[in-house]
Amino acid sequence: MSASSFPVVPVPMRTSAPAPTAAELLDFVRRTAEDTELIASLPLDPEGRTWIRLDGPGGSEAWLIGWPPGTGTGWHDHADSIGAFLTAAGTLTEHSLAARLPTDGWKTLELAEDIDRTRELTPGRGRAFGRHHVHEVLNGSAAEHAVSVHAYYPPLPRIRRYSRTGAVLRLEQTERPEDWQ
Ligand SMILES: [Fe+2]
Repeated sequence: MSASSFPVVPVPMRTSAPAPTAAELLDFVRRTAEDTELIASLPLDPEGRTWIRLDGPGGSEAWLIGWPPGTGTGWHDHADSIGAFLTAAGTLTEHSLAARLPTDGWKTLELAEDIDRTRELTPGRGRAFGRHHVHEVLNGSAAEHAVSVHAYYPPLPRIRRYSRTGAVLRLEQTERPEDWQ
C-alpha cells in the first residue's frame, strides 16, 4: 500500500491559544518575579517609574515596572481586561474598591462606606483581578524602590482614570496604556 492511499483525515487546527485566566496571569507574574536576573535588569530611576515590556502568556500584555519611593498610579481601571500583578521587590500598597462599577454611562459615583480595601503587597505577594477592577497602586516607602510584574488580558486595555474626593469617584479621562506608561 502506498502512502498516498491513506485517507486524509481533517484535523481541527487551533489557530490561537485559549484566553488566559486570571489565575494563569497570577501564576505568570509570580514565576516572573522569581526570575532574579530579569528583575535586576530593570533600570531604576529615582525621578520616575521605569518599565520593560514582557511577553505574557496566551497573548497577554505584561510589564515589569519600577516604582521610586512615593510614586503611584492614581485611581484607574482596566475596562474589560482581567489582570494580575505581584511585588518582586519593596512593598506596594493597593487601594481598591470591593464593588463592580458600571463601565460606561456615568461621570461621578458616590461610593458606599464599606467598599474600600487596602492591601500591603510585600515581595512575593500579589493579586489577580477581574474586569472593571478599580484601584490605585503606590509605593508608599520613603526610601525604597519597588518592582512589580503585571499582566493583562486582553492586551492594550483601555484605562479609565478617576479622581477621588472623599466618597466621590469622578471619571477624568480614558487612556490607552501608551499614554499611561
Ligand atoms: Fe492597574
